[in-house]
Amino acid sequence: MSAPGKEGSQGSANSIGKALHSLDLDGHQLPPSPAPSSPRNGRKYALATELVFTETGDQHGASSVPIYQSATFKSTTANATSEYDYSRSGNPTRTHLERHVAKIMNASRALVTTSGMAAMDLICRLLRPGDEVITGDDLYGGTNRLLKHLSTNAGIVVHHVNTTDVDTVKRVISNKTAMCLLETPTNPLIKIVDIREISRSVKAAAPNALIVVDNTMLSPYLQNPLDLGADIVYESGTKYLSGHHDVMAGVVGVNDKVLGEKLYSMVNSTGCGLSPMDSFLLIRGIKTLAVRMEKQQANAAHIASFLESHGFRVRYPGLRSHPQYDLHCSMARGAGAVLSFETGDVALSQRIVESTRLWGISVSFGCVNSLISMPCQMSHASIDAKVRKERGLKEDVIRLCVGIEDVEDLTEDLSRALVQAGAVTITTDGFHAIGGGQTVGNGELNEQPETSGSSGTED
Ligand SMILES: Cc1ncc(COP(=O)(O)O)c(C=O)c1O
Repeated sequence: MSAPGKEGSQGSANSIGKALHSLDLDGHQLPPSPAPSSPRNGRKYALATELVFTETGDQHGASSVPIYQSATFKSTTANATSEYDYSRSGNPTRTHLERHVAKIMNASRALVTTSGMAAMDLICRLLRPGDEVITGDDLYGGTNRLLKHLSTNAGIVVHHVNTTDVDTVKRVISNKTAMCLLETPTNPLIKIVDIREISRSVKAAAPNALIVVDNTMLSPYLQNPLDLGADIVYESGTKYLSGHHDVMAGVVGVNDKVLGEKLYSMVNSTGCGLSPMDSFLLIRGIKTLAVRMEKQQANAAHIASFLESHGFRVRYPGLRSHPQYDLHCSMARGAGAVLSFETGDVALSQRIVESTRLWGISVSFGCVNSLISMPCQMSHASIDAKVRKERGLKEDVIRLCVGIEDVEDLTEDLSRALVQAGAVTITTDGFHAIGGGQTVGNGELNEQPETSGSSGTED
């Protein structure tokens, strides 16, 4: 497949490429693309529209962005002035996706990588030996593992603290703080982190420190951390952005030009840029993000209320009983579709999980299908059991990642599993959790002991 405009006259293709390059409205040094994905008149539409709207600039008017399945690109001159030469450095399908992602993340530049962890790895390459990282105590297991690797092998000092408490964060800031890495809502304890306040505090004490936010749990449809004070936002595109669990991807967004250049240079150096086929799949997934998220979120709110009304201890930021409901609403446009609940008994939780039929037992979230899991035994198993305990991650926690199915079917399947597992007592009025009704209190969110040592102390 040839690049737009290259048929017949490669000389004119080069001039088109240069013209497009100079057309870059934001003036940053992006690897050029066949066409910007933003509307040419620069008008900003509602997000649901922006998600769908792209211009391919394809010479045949293809409605769908062409897949440039080519590792190399030919040049007409010996001095390599073509837009693209090698797909590790840049590929038209990937660039189109990057511009589209930048637009929806409110970033001036985005990069797309082979996974969410590759995105985080890219960001961590900005660190140097001796640098200190402040991060949460309820992190995704893979994030925890990479930070542990860096603290063990690369001389990075990692402070895991309760980031839901700004004062706790303040106590570990020093002139060596180079990065503050936040997740909100946390997963699976669904704690909310005040991005604005932490950004302000960290910047006041360590102006050069970078505020990095993992936005995977909400997606750009519901939250834009760059607007809340973050310097870098990243997420696993494997989740809501793709929506179908058929592609692994990561996305990174920044507004600082120099930072963008540094990150791009790492993509080029390490070869972690997303493949053309996967870029195409992610572009396709992003188009339906709004409708998927609206439906998943509505289903999640229903399931969370259902469980709470039957006496389970539920963690979901869309419930008024969540102690940080107001804080969450001040940052995000919705509560997302991940919730967790407790039964008080690991074996009971296991029976519930294994008794469901519609809810697939699987790690991950963001898919159109509903999933159920026990994080301590699955997604967070890479965190040492002792550390999990220290961080208040209860072994019986069940995580629900709600999909787009009919909500009555989902509720009925869950009810049947609760009854079959013996998690509820049945009365003439209905049924009730055997553990008794409890909501998650404020004190409980902060009850974990502060664990501010380097992640190398996990053993
Ligand atoms: C919050 C969060 N961040 C990052 C990742 C890593 O993303 P990926 O699996 O695409 O590497 C995950 C994966 O589950 C996640 O849940």
